[in-house]
Amino acid sequence: MFVKYCACVFLLAAVMSAYPYMYMTESYRVGIQYAKALPMDGGSDRYRHWNNYDPFFVTITTSAKKGYVIAYLDVTATVANGGEVNFSLVRGSTGTRTMVFQLVSNHSEFLSYRYLPTG
Ligand SMILES: *[C@@H]1O[C@H](CO)[C@@H](O)[C@H](O)[C@H]1NC(C)=O
Ligand SMILES: *[C@@H]1O[C@H](CO)[C@@H](O)[C@H](O)[C@H]1NC(C)=O
Repeated sequence: MFVKYCACVFLLAAVMSAYPYMYMTESYRVGIQYAKALPMDGGSDRYRHWNNYDPFFVTITTSAKKGYVIAYLDVTATVANGGEVNFSLVRGSTGTRTMVFQLVSNHSEFLSYRYLPTG
């Protein structure tokens, strides 16, 4: 969406089990889906962490292309089955160019995620 439009912020967290026996996947959306929105630059990564009783944090910064603001942000995080993962928005909001979010996982030997801001 263009800069002059400003979206309200709300957080919708949906839980889905993609692979019930091995993985637990959670999807998060911040913002409101907007029909003519354009996908911006997203990303994905996967981390292993061995002491899986210490929480593992990743902080990700995501930005809209020039001249756009973020209308909504989709994040999907996967941890080992029995693990947990939480999402939090650290800085920014929909209607601005940059959002910083954090994923915290626990009881999992890996964290993988992908995210896509749409503007
Ligand atoms: C992570 O798990 C450990 C061990 O069960 C627990 O003590 C700790 O509070 C958990 N941390 C978070 C952030 O959930
Ligand atoms: C996730 O959030 C719940 C509820 O706020 C909390 O009890 C739990 O420790 C958190 N887990 C992690 C991994 O941060």
